[in-house]
Amino acid sequence: MAPHILIATLQSAFLSLCSSLVATYFTASNPPILALVTFSLLSTPPNYLWQQQVEKLLPGYTPQKIEVEDGGSGVTVENRLNVTNTIMKFTFDQTVMALINVTLFIGGVRLLQGVPLDECLQAVKEQTIPMMFAGYKLWPAVSLLNYTVIPVKRRTLVASVVGLGWGVFLAITASR
Ligand SMILES: *[C@@H]1O[C@H](CO)[C@@H](O)[C@H](O)[C@H]1NC(C)=O
Repeated sequence: MAPHILIATLQSAFLSLCSSLVATYFTASNPPILALVTFSLLSTPPNYLWQQQVEKLLPGYTPQKIEVEDGGSGVTVENRLNVTNTIMKFTFDQTVMALINVTLFIGGVRLLQGVPLDECLQAVKEQTIPMMFAGYKLWPAVSLLNYTVIPVKRRTLVASVVGLGWGVFLAITASR
């Protein structure tokens, strides 16, 4: 494994642990810490590799011809934010990837605790859409920042840090 993917994975697992501990400390909830950390270890590498592939396919910054007043050719080439690519990545992130990640999270964390498969599927059926819509209050802004100002090797970390707050928020909301 390349160092960056390893680091990103360990960071995510650590943040998942922190999130669980904060939720445990500040709420009456009793989150499944081992399952949450394990899920984080399993889900970060594919997400990291996916982000890299997407960036290759749809680079956020591409060379673009810029008109300049230099008295000469009047044109220079500079790397600028590629709005089309950014909008495509953003849209895909908030729909297809959100659906996949939420589904895997709800089902996966339960499976890791030994919950029977039919109960895991029932939880996925009942909770996926509400969790996605709760996420829309937060994740579109994060995704937009991630694709515009955050370098690709830091993206999973940013997502993890926001995920820390997100995990705690879910625990607090659930415990009311
Ligand atoms: C954005 O990137 C694509 C390739 O991914 C390229 O075809 C397109 O011209 C770029 N757009 C601009 C405005 O540079």
